[in-house]
Amino acid sequence: MSEALRGPVLAANWKMYKGPGATRVFLDRFVALYPAHSDRSVVFFPSAISIPAFVADRSGREDLEVGIQDVHTEVEGACTGAVSAAMAAEAEIGWGLAGHSERRRDFGDHDATVGIKLSRLLEAGLRPILCVGETLEERRGGLLEEVLSRQVETALDVLESSGCGPWNDKVLAYEPVWAIGTGETATPGDAAEAHGLIREVLSRRAGDEPAATAKILYGGSVKPGNIEALLGADGVDGVLVGGASLDPDSFARICLAGSGR
Ligand code: 13P
Repeated sequence: MSEALRGPVLAANWKMYKGPGATRVFLDRFVALYPAHSDRSVVFFPSAISIPAFVADRSGREDLEVGIQDVHTEVEGACTGAVSAAMAAEAEIGWGLAGHSERRRDFGDHDATVGIKLSRLLEAGLRPILCVGETLEERRGGLLEEVLSRQVETALDVLESSGCGPWNDKVLAYEPVWAIGTGETATPGDAAEAHGLIREVLSRRAGDEPAATAKILYGGSVKPGNIEALLGADGVDGVLVGGASLDPDSFARICLAGSGR
């Protein structure tokens, strides 16, 4: 894993969009719009099949880092269709998501499964982003704190029992499920509250310093129009962007937030 991160993390989760051809088209324009900045990290999570095209076509722009959207809980095996963290590391992929809400909802990734994936990513030397967030029903039911604590605590429990730690330079993403792909964004106040709750869990478990230096990204309908307000919220250290990251112009504007350009 590379050195500690400086500045905000601006991450693009392309989900199941953009094959290799569309990846090249995006990069052609994006590299022209977004020059390298040393005060922030920009990370793309393309579809696994488009990662080789991404790496080949980023025109030497190694500041545009690359991650894998999901890995299997096993290192290798008879798991048709799956990719392991060890394989991602071998392909020189630097980052990996664990626990995205779409994996939790559509692929049955429970809290403990997410903990195993987090462990696998660390074991392979990738930088994980642990994704957590509540559904609308959970929020309405007053369960925000309980859900976030359970998701973070279980992942940390599994990680500890796997013996593969330590998890240095933690990066997490708070993605309220009700704000993903809906156009509904958490207010900067909502994000600050949830990030504060996550930091309390980290502080209880790992101590004040690791909790204070952990990067917690916000995800859920981030757009050029709300990026400045979100990045300005207390405890928001970056963003994980879905829809608005698919367009090079809009993601470049997000990546340039606060840079004076
Ligand atoms: P949207 O930005 O499309 O709401 O998606 C957020 C997300 O799921 C990023 O991982």
